[in-house]
Amino acid sequence: MKSFDKIIVANWKMQLSLDKAKEEAKEMKKLLSKAKIGEDTVAIVCPDFLAMTEVAKIFKGSDIILGAQDTYPGDTGAHTGEVSLSNLKSLGCQYIIIGHSERRAMGESDDSINQKVKAVLEHDMVPIICVGETYDERKEEKTNFVVIHQVYEALKDVKLKEGQQIMLAYEPVWVIGSGQVIDANEADRMSQIVRQSYIDAMEGQNLEALSILYGGSVTPETVNRFTSLEKIKGVLVGGASLDGESFIEIVKKA
Ligand code: 13P
Repeated sequence: MKSFDKIIVANWKMQLSLDKAKEEAKEMKKLLSKAKIGEDTVAIVCPDFLAMTEVAKIFKGSDIILGAQDTYPGDTGAHTGEVSLSNLKSLGCQYIIIGHSERRAMGESDDSINQKVKAVLEHDMVPIICVGETYDERKEEKTNFVVIHQVYEALKDVKLKEGQQIMLAYEPVWVIGSGQVIDANEADRMSQIVRQSYIDAMEGQNLEALSILYGGSVTPETVNRFTSLEKIKGVLVGGASLDGESFIEIVKKA
């Protein structure tokens, strides 16, 4: 799969009605076709599962790539309420968010995240693994430990085949949806911790497969603060990705 130097991911969470999702997807497609985006930039949109089929039809033939917000760690089978990787793939979905803090808060375990990462790679798709500390963990000076631990657990026994990619998104939980952003120095420091954790977890292998993203209240005004950092290749955007115009502004300014 092609790798990119600038990666902008929209995580729509459960925020849009089906009609609104279709409307914003159409707007994004129209605006992106007019924007002058370099070959090295990619826009990925992760709608909710229900909107996926319709949004996939809209994005067909455009430069926007479909992603998913989660997955079952395997293929079709008797798993009530789950969604299979092969069905996601058949819609054109190439990227899967795994271990978002909102899912961790609902009880998703490190082990489940690890299984999903392996399953996504087995299907030759790209996992976007979310890591990040809560406000209390930061106050207790556990930030580094939490992030190192989450990266390690997610990548336990992960083996990459030639050309496969992994994305690690650092999202400080206390910043998500808050409207505040961390400063560039801290984002830079955390990106180095994420990178070193990956190197240690993968025993020095496959560094070329890694892309680090930042997420947490990113807007068109702040995106460049993060994408201008040497080790950060892109952003994972919630609120500001719900509006087509604002998301494409982020893509343009990244
Ligand atoms: P916000 O951009 O709304 O803070 O959300 C970030 C996020 O959780 C993306 O996954």
